[in-house]
Amino acid sequence: MKVLITGGAGFIGSWLSEALLDAGHSVSVMDDLSTGSVDNLARCMNRPGFRFLQDDIMVSGALEKEILDADCLIHLAAAVGVDLVVKDPVRTIMTNVKGSERVLSIAAQAKKRCILASTSEVYGKSTRSTFSENDDLLIGPSTHSRWSYACSKLLDEFMLMAYWRNNGLPGTVTRFFNTVGPRQTGRYGMVLPRFVSAALKGEDLRVFGTGEQTRCFCHVSDTVRALLKLMADPSAAGEVFNIGSSESISIRGLAELVIRRLGSSSRIVQIPYSQAYEAGFEDMLHRAPDCSKIKARYGWEAEIPLVRIIDDVADCFRAGGIRK
Ligand SMILES: NC(=O)c1ccc[n+]([C@@H]2O[C@H](COP(=O)([O-])OP(=O)(O)OC[C@H]3O[C@@H](n4cnc5c(N)ncnc54)[C@H](O)[C@@H]3O)[C@@H](O)[C@H]2O)c1
Repeated sequence: MKVLITGGAGFIGSWLSEALLDAGHSVSVMDDLSTGSVDNLARCMNRPGFRFLQDDIMVSGALEKEILDADCLIHLAAAVGVDLVVKDPVRTIMTNVKGSERVLSIAAQAKKRCILASTSEVYGKSTRSTFSENDDLLIGPSTHSRWSYACSKLLDEFMLMAYWRNNGLPGTVTRFFNTVGPRQTGRYGMVLPRFVSAALKGEDLRVFGTGEQTRCFCHVSDTVRALLKLMADPSAAGEVFNIGSSESISIRGLAELVIRRLGSSSRIVQIPYSQAYEAGFEDMLHRAPDCSKIKARYGWEAEIPLVRIIDDVADCFRAGGIRK
């Protein structure tokens, strides 16, 4: 199969590219390198069947031809990371809405199998213990720019569903819950690479808010495994799937675990949200996926425990294979 990955030079896209090549597929990546890097694709660049195009999905003249040439499209290109979203909400909205509209409208005309990367952020401030695909979504006010990411991704989801209904786009939505692993950069606010990098250097681990908020961290190779299953099944068109781990931990607990696991002398310091992000910043207290749908359909569940994720991320930092 010929697969086009938008945002393929990013963290998830680079691992996906490798897995697809390993499985015998051809892969084209279109990425503007705004948060991604060609270094992430070092293991793909010289392999047969791999192509990299440095281009912006919002303006690329090559996008239509690339989509028409592909059998399947995995749309990962987006403005990602709480820091980036809070600092540059215009870029977030334009990339995630305008970019996705271009990608999805071409895919719809050509009726290409398509997977859209959405996010657990769309569940917003809902207080359920686990989130499942048909739950209501509770987004915060538009005066808080952090919600622009969730809203822009949610609009992408509605757009995909609209093209599926009106034009027969064989598209599927995936909602990732905190995907982590080697190559993820902490530069845009991702917590695990920030903690591991700080612990290895003996620097303070900065916990934002009370630290009581809980999250579930899923190894990128588990996420990639789920994407390969979904990609291969056009009968999943018009559906939404959560992808995440069920192993929940508080952010303070994560900081403690990272320090213990890496034998670090680092301390934990607590930073109020208003100082870390913006006045009035809102966060979800708990965020855990209900993955019973993808498990029942494909037998998929996250397998790699958090301690191994920490080890993998630390090994990657030690090897210098990540941009800090
Ligand atoms: N990592 C997570 O925990 C997580 C959670 C939920 C959703 N997601 C989604 O998964 C996808 C991949 O995220 P990631 O963690 O690999 O982040 P990432 O920043 O590493 O990857 C995004 C890629 O998109 C590229 N990009 C951005 N704007 C572009 C444009 N206009 N044209 C072309 N390329 C562009 C970036 O350069 C980058 O390589 C994103 O859609 C993100 O919203 C990720």
